[in-house]
Amino acid sequence: MRIAVVAERLEGEGRVAITPDAAKALITAGHAVTVERGAGGHANYPDAAYEEAGATLAAREAVLGAAEVLFTVRRPDEETLSALPRGTALVGLIEPHGDKAFAQDCARRGIDAMSMEFTPRITRAQSMDALSSQSNLAGYRAVIEAASIYGRAFPMMMTAAGTVAAAKAFVMGAGVAGLQAIATARRLGAIVSATDVRPAAKEQVASLGAKFVAVEDEEFRQAETAGGYAKPMSEAYQAKQADLVASHIAKQDVVVTTALIPGRSAPRLIKKAMVETMKPGAVIIDLAAGAGGNCELTVPDQIIQHGGVKIAGFTNLPGRLAADASQLLAKNFVNLSPLLAGEDGARAPHWDDDIIKGMALTRDGAVIHPSLAD
Ligand code: NAI
Repeated sequence: MRIAVVAERLEGEGRVAITPDAAKALITAGHAVTVERGAGGHANYPDAAYEEAGATLAAREAVLGAAEVLFTVRRPDEETLSALPRGTALVGLIEPHGDKAFAQDCARRGIDAMSMEFTPRITRAQSMDALSSQSNLAGYRAVIEAASIYGRAFPMMMTAAGTVAAAKAFVMGAGVAGLQAIATARRLGAIVSATDVRPAAKEQVASLGAKFVAVEDEEFRQAETAGGYAKPMSEAYQAKQADLVASHIAKQDVVVTTALIPGRSAPRLIKKAMVETMKPGAVIIDLAAGAGGNCELTVPDQIIQHGGVKIAGFTNLPGRLAADASQLLAKNFVNLSPLLAGEDGARAPHWDDDIIKGMALTRDGAVIHPSLAD
């Protein structure tokens, strides 16, 4: 199949869907890879490296016009969609949740859209799970950003001039990003605690050497869906959680929030009044900024100051590690590609495979995903 890769157009998006190594793997598997000139530049993958890997470089229109599969980091704009031939498979992090209009637009254009966000959480799909590959890097980077914004050191230091106290870091939401944030904060020497509503998180947090802080009632014991994600919690639970968090957060220097419920706005875990109890110099990094924020005061893509507390609303932390994030995402696409082709290598999505069934939004001009169909 002819695989197309173009430069991302979203402001500040430095990632590229396919790296030279990934292009090589796809070409070795019998596919043709065409890349827009300069597409990998922001992630430090120069055109020459793609050429060396066997890919063809071309202008954007030529790449799109010949596409059978378009791997993309983010949802393409109208102009890009309109340049794709009917029948193209569009695969990427296309923010599908509840967006019927986008799915209908793809269907009208005859584009078979597949969402990496909907990759089922089954063992066989783990190597294709782009949310996990990107969240892991986001969790790491969140702590690095916190360390740079925080005006003090993370580790305890005993010097002749006196002792520097270790920073206290609290991670809210101990999924993929949160666990990596815990590990990174621990490596930097912080005293780390974490919370989550899924009971499975308790052991994982403890195994990383952090203290688990949570309301562990009956609702907590039922909070995980079969798909591994958290359920929205009741108002009563949220109130108990807020009480517990309020007293804990006042003692923290760094708070990293990662709590998400797929397809919904992020739970509001940190209220303005809680921020006002925090120490001057404390830092909140809100990874849920793009989904409305876990902190009431978060402004997407800005670092604001409230009292003495800095609140950072980064919406694309993986993009700040564009080379690594692209490498892992591209590997997710390479691992998915056998499910998009027939035995002869021609484009033929395995529509009956559970992974493709989970991801497919549209097929042959119709919206087919159950969450988007009327
Ligand atoms: P996510 O990004 O949707 O959410 C992040 C975290 O926020 C989750 O741990 C969630 O429980 C937590 N959260 C939600 N509401 C909260 C609240 N009110 N208070 C505190 N925390 C809250 O989830 P993520 O990180 O994508 O995955 C969650 C879990 O899914 C992983 O830890 C893992 O166990 C499982 N997973 C399974 C995979 C597989 O089997 N293929 C692949 C990746 C993850």
